Amino acid sequence: MTSTSPSTRKRKLWRDAEPTQYTAFYAYRSSGQGASRSNSLCCEDTPLDRIARQVGTPTYVYSRAGIQDAYLHLDRAFGSLPHTVCYSLKANSNLSVLRLFARLGSSFDIVSGGELDRLRRLGVSGSRIVFSGVGKTREEIRDALRYTGKGARRSGIFLFNVESEAELEVLLEEAADHIAAGGERPSAAIRVNPDVLAGGHRHISTGHHQHKFGIDWEQARNLYLAHKNSRLIAWRGISAHIGSQILSVAPYRRALQRVASYVRELVPLGIRLDYVDIGGGLGIRYTNEQPLNVSLYARTLSGIVRPLGCRLLIEPGRTLVGPAGVLLTRVLYVKENGGRKFVVVDAAMNDLIRPVLYDAVHPITKVIRGSKGISKSRVDVVGPICETGDFLARDYLLEPVGAGDLLAVWAAGAYGFAESSNYNARRRAAEVLVEGTKFRIVRRRETYDDLVQGEI
Ligand code: LLP
Repeated sequence: MTSTSPSTRKRKLWRDAEPTQYTAFYAYRSSGQGASRSNSLCCEDTPLDRIARQVGTPTYVYSRAGIQDAYLHLDRAFGSLPHTVCYSLKANSNLSVLRLFARLGSSFDIVSGGELDRLRRLGVSGSRIVFSGVGKTREEIRDALRYTGKGARRSGIFLFNVESEAELEVLLEEAADHIAAGGERPSAAIRVNPDVLAGGHRHISTGHHQHKFGIDWEQARNLYLAHKNSRLIAWRGISAHIGSQILSVAPYRRALQRVASYVRELVPLGIRLDYVDIGGGLGIRYTNEQPLNVSLYARTLSGIVRPLGCRLLIEPGRTLVGPAGVLLTRVLYVKENGGRKFVVVDAAMNDLIRPVLYDAVHPITKVIRGSKGISKSRVDVVGPICETGDFLARDYLLEPVGAGDLLAVWAAGAYGFAESSNYNARRRAAEVLVEGTKFRIVRRRETYDDLVQGEI
């Protein structure tokens, strides 16, 4: 009798992942007759091979209904609690995706002037924008103070989440000029570091005291007090973000309880905050993870925030767009080296860097499957870039594939295109938004001319 170790069993599980089982927005549908019968992967009611034929590969595909459903599910989970969902642009900042969130009534969490510019182009009101980030430049701060959305009567944004005393100094200086020129006093919060360890990978865990984010409570309290009666800023909130791809409610509970105790501590000192921002970080299912239960998360957070009488702000990114997206790529070649089988595809680490950067496992399946049972074999799915780190999956159990086959790389809607680059002078992928039987190219594939623009 052979026995398998827990780690082997775990590995086996993710390598056998069947992603269609955990999304309602992608499914195989049978097509053809008799021997030519096959199953074709569809996003909503649109076959992915149709998109690949018309748009080419590599291409990111997003389900509009998938994004909308995730947003509404999360928003509604908080019920009557005063709350604001601030979609975190960094996960996917395609203008059409942002327009969809704006129409759904979402607010936004930004971390750069570039993200602010995207919202400006859509005419999003400043009252729906929270500015986080550890390194806001003076220009970015100034720009946010002067921000005006479409038809807005007042300038500025909803909240600056300040991450250091030095940044606060810059905000104060810029606010002084802004107010002198007739502008309004900005609202601010301090991002505290709640010293809670959470998150899926060491690169994306942020709430520990040794991380660069936020300010420890001692310091934060001093800043709240020092600028309590400021004419230049108004303290309105407190914020924390502990990490990303978090799969349990416990670290949220711990962090929020700590933040709540800070809010209470400030009351007798004459500071009443209106907003508690607990950041983003909700984990999703890539392979065999149990995604965080949204109702439990909402109930837990509500239970802590409601007695404070504050409005809760959350900044989700991945959970709203990740499961709604796939990356389509075509097999170029299949080869073997030293007993290892390589499937060379036309997408590469410049298109999806998560596998090499975070050891992320994105399931990969064939878009067109035969109707018969399939026997899988272990392969490395690699791209054309000249680095060993250029892989989409390693040691992955894949159905038999040949040159020309179309593959879907799953759960790629968050931090996929957003982290893509032009490495190896590769053009970045096209992006497509599907709605039922229709799809739209929401970002055309780059051209070689695009790549050299701005160079001499
Ligand atoms: N708020 C703040 C202040 C953040 O730093 C982040 C993410 C979020 C919200 C949104 O977190 P989410 O809900 O998406 O977990 N590139 C990595 C993830 C980096 C997350 C950075 N901060 C990845 O692909 O896993």
